[in-house]
Amino acid sequence: MNELARGSLSAAEPGATLEATAGHAAGQCAVAVEGLVKEFGKLRAVDNLTLHVPPGLIYGVIGPNGAGKTTTFRFLATLLRPTAGRGYVHGVSIVAEPLEVRRLVGYMPEDFGLYDGMKVWEFLDFFAAAYGVPRKVRQRVIEDVVELLDLTGKWNDFVNGLSRGMRQRLALARALLHDPRVLVLDEPASGLDPRARLEIKELIRELKRMGKTVVISSHILAELADLCDMVAVLERGRLVIAGTLDELRRQLQKHRLVDVVLIDDQDAERAERCLRGHGAVLQVTRSGRSLLLEAAGDDAVLAELLHRLIADGVTVVRFAERELTLEEIFMRVTQGIVA
Ligand SMILES: Nc1ncnc2c1ncn2[C@@H]1O[C@H](COP(=O)(O)OP(=O)(O)OP(=O)(O)O)[C@@H](O)[C@H]1O
Ligand SMILES: [Mg+2]
Repeated sequence: MNELARGSLSAAEPGATLEATAGHAAGQCAVAVEGLVKEFGKLRAVDNLTLHVPPGLIYGVIGPNGAGKTTTFRFLATLLRPTAGRGYVHGVSIVAEPLEVRRLVGYMPEDFGLYDGMKVWEFLDFFAAAYGVPRKVRQRVIEDVVELLDLTGKWNDFVNGLSRGMRQRLALARALLHDPRVLVLDEPASGLDPRARLEIKELIRELKRMGKTVVISSHILAELADLCDMVAVLERGRLVIAGTLDELRRQLQKHRLVDVVLIDDQDAERAERCLRGHGAVLQVTRSGRSLLLEAAGDDAVLAELLHRLIADGVTVVRFAERELTLEEIFMRVTQGIVA
């Protein structure tokens, strides 16, 4: 990506560290949502949601279909009046000062929309004017954004003829035209092929390097894990858990999971009986000569369990701890199985 392309966009501010932003006062956050409720008739789409996004970070909002991600993002983009609750962008109230908030937020919606007969440059010129970018600098701003997003070769193409990957880039370009401090991106990678996904992620990392805060949604935790500094998992409008991935892992994996393989089925049965008698053992699941052991405790406890098996005379072929994959973490969280 060309450094020059940053020209008319903000100069980089150093990305805030997590430690430096431990305070959660709304004023210190790039985005703060407090007690947000949104009802559509009888349906509570967002249920008392509180989120705090430190400045300069990439913050993922993860959840299955209907979790309330788009509803929350539309609130951040000032497009939706909440049933209850408050929200602030860099301390500015979303409900009380929506026009000021619009200056601070670049919103990339889930659906791009149809722009019949419009060329790429016309599209960007139209939106730059709508965002109030002064005529004098408009051309320069558009050129910078087009260069940043590698859309230079598409200048004269019709918007509706672009591939999905290019349309997503253009949608991101539109969100950047007024040089917002915060980007709210609703599933920017959905429907893209693996290469286009990587490219969009790289662009988002570049935005972070430029000092912007990015709030981004996805269905899949694993999809955003390598991109986000922090994630929040939503289900049925509620926050299930939020934090860095390490924090999530620590909170969800209080129990140790150990794969134990014995020499034969008979030894596995004996090992199961032996382990079940120990106070630290929460669960043992046997399948043939393999056991999945769930226990609470530190390394010393695991060592003691292994010792106990061997002292009992069973032949242990394998005794290996298993870390939850991101997929497993997500499934546990969204089924409400939070330790
Ligand atoms: N304008 C609306 N009128 C009525 N119900 C709505 C409206 N917008 C959203 N909903 C409902 O609110 C709930 C949350 O929807 P939302 O679009 O916020 O979820 P989401 O997490 O973005 O889901 P997806 O992953 O499918 O995009 C859903 O049950 C949806 O049907
Ligand atoms: Mg959505």
